[in-house]
Amino acid sequence: MRTVYFDYNATTPLDPQVREAMLPFLEGIYGNPSSVHHIGRRARSILDDARDRAAKVLGSKPSEVIFTSGGTESNNLAIFGAARLLKPKGRHLITSVIEHHAVLHCMDYLEKKEGFEVTRLPVSREGFVSPEDLAKAIQPDTILVSIMAANNEIGTVEPVAELGALCRERGVLFHTDAVQWFGKEPFQDVHQFNADLVSICAHKFHGPKGAGALFVRSPLLPDPILFGGGHENERRAGTENLASIIGMVEALERFVRVPVFSREALLPLSEQLASMLEGLAGVRMVGPRDRRLVNTVSFLVEGSDSIALLAGLDLEGICASSGSACSAGSIEPSHVIVGLGIERKLANSLVRFSLGRESTRTEIEYAGEVVPRVIKRAQRAQ
Ligand SMILES: Cc1ncc(COP(=O)(O)O)c(C=O)c1O
Repeated sequence: MRTVYFDYNATTPLDPQVREAMLPFLEGIYGNPSSVHHIGRRARSILDDARDRAAKVLGSKPSEVIFTSGGTESNNLAIFGAARLLKPKGRHLITSVIEHHAVLHCMDYLEKKEGFEVTRLPVSREGFVSPEDLAKAIQPDTILVSIMAANNEIGTVEPVAELGALCRERGVLFHTDAVQWFGKEPFQDVHQFNADLVSICAHKFHGPKGAGALFVRSPLLPDPILFGGGHENERRAGTENLASIIGMVEALERFVRVPVFSREALLPLSEQLASMLEGLAGVRMVGPRDRRLVNTVSFLVEGSDSIALLAGLDLEGICASSGSACSAGSIEPSHVIVGLGIERKLANSLVRFSLGRESTRTEIEYAGEVVPRVIKRAQRAQ
């Protein structure tokens, strides 16, 4: 059976050159950067150099880069760290209803257990957060706003620079979860988001899993969420994973400066896929046409559900995703799709195709043959 991987928003394969750069750190170079002897000092100098390289790509100071274990940890550190630091100033936090759970569940926790108040902004039918809504939601005791740069399920690219500028004007910290954005959108430097905190995750752009970074604009120092040694400027205790860090830096240099998800290559493919889908009975596209991640094509199927659709696609070799948490045959509709104002039954039928570097026209043509059949079968099964 052929395999067609249309799930690049879930993860991307490790790039062979990135792997090559990581190998010495899984083999010969094993020192702990905190050790005082020469083996340790060698590791320390490689770590320092990696931070300089990451900062160079980001256009930041090296001290503004905190290496983490990925997008989830970067989001947790940004939100818990900033909220707890600023609690004496205020207890109001703002986010949107379509954030990743790595943001929403932090907000829920702070609200339930630590006495914060959270405003969850609504979004338009295409998933956009409105700057006017944000301006109205900011209160005198608002200390942090967290809005994602690009949505993982429907590809909406949020107007973060505008939202960030608004927060700065009003003296409120701004965090953006840019996990899906890096490697897909044109990048100048990390300041283009007008954000104080930016989450990055390596495996979304052909780096290793379990590696990420949080940009923290100086002089801000969020409270740590991991305690122990004084690593990462006392923001993140734990012996550094040099192999992963080097892998992430290598991927940042190779695949973010010039986005590895090439607009030129992917736009014709995603448009061909979208127009095939639009022609099918019962299919409803979700997400914007413009200001969308170029690789992401998401849709709902009337009279069906995600589990039947994804299983049917998988039988034909096509790997896709839904935003739903699937468990034992029952599905919770995606909170993102519900957030768009779509009724829960239909929201249960989300399918996301996310294309990438290895996607080809032949694969899109194959999908054109197979998908109509899979959809019909899944509809009949209801
Ligand atoms: C927007 C967004 N934020 C955060 C994450 C979490 O990343 P990770 O699971 O690698 O920690 C993801 C992963 O899918 C994501 O898409």
